[in-house]
Amino acid sequence: MWRASVLTIFPDIFPGPLGASLAGKALAAGAWSLDVVDIRAFATDKHRTVDDTPAGGGPGMVMKPDVLGRAIDATAADDRPRLLLSPRGTPLTQARVEALAVGAGALLVCGRFEGVDERVIAGRGLEEVSIGDYVLSGGELAAMVLIDACVRLLPGVMGDEASRTEESFSEGLLEYPQYTRPQVWEGRPIPEVLTSGDHGRIAAWRREEAERLTEERRPDLWIRHRSAQPLPNGERSQAQRAGEGGRNSGVGSPSPAPQASPSDRPLPGGER
Ligand code: ADE
Repeated sequence: MWRASVLTIFPDIFPGPLGASLAGKALAAGAWSLDVVDIRAFATDKHRTVDDTPAGGGPGMVMKPDVLGRAIDATAADDRPRLLLSPRGTPLTQARVEALAVGAGALLVCGRFEGVDERVIAGRGLEEVSIGDYVLSGGELAAMVLIDACVRLLPGVMGDEASRTEESFSEGLLEYPQYTRPQVWEGRPIPEVLTSGDHGRIAAWRREEAERLTEERRPDLWIRHRSAQPLPNGERSQAQRAGEGGRNSGVGSPSPAPQASPSDRPLPGGER
């Protein structure tokens, strides 16, 4: 069973949204498990202190390595990845989510205050992961996001829906627009092509819309997508050849910031 162990000073906010909807049903059905560990329970003083002032001065408080170290040791006797949710972490991608979802689960440490003592990060092999370039007040919501993204991929949790969305992302394009009845809503009709019954035209329209939205909203994904397309003569582009050094080779990397993106996974031809 896929196991999430969450270390937090706010244990009461879990499972929160993970207890509802598909993730909640899967939790109740035993498709995954959630242990929530109160870091404060590992403090030894009478005030149950988990933080202290930063060495060298400065604002805020830092999570103490001794308390957090004991909490981790009491929780993780296995080899699941140990992640620290932090805005300075490596951006979470769909590729990473997929890799985590096929594993045994994860230990998730929710940071608070100005940060976590660097020695416990090194000493317990914590890998810092960010869910985006903005700062939350703590890692709890980020941990929920990560768990939700993994759980929906577990066998039997979502049926066919997950694979459909992932297929669209695997091409490095954003999802095309969707419509459902009524045929006309507030004077806006469903695009005629979608009710034409012509599957070839529908597929072409969806492709064009996916490309249009990707180019408009995510120039980073668009450049990457375009450089992964075969040239008209069937050869591969210079960008594709240069990219053969593999992940993070940096050579010919088409996007200025190869950051968290749904296309950060192999494309169908094994090309990126
Ligand atoms: N904690 C605070 N901000 C965060 C972020 N953006 N990602 C992960 N953890 C965080």
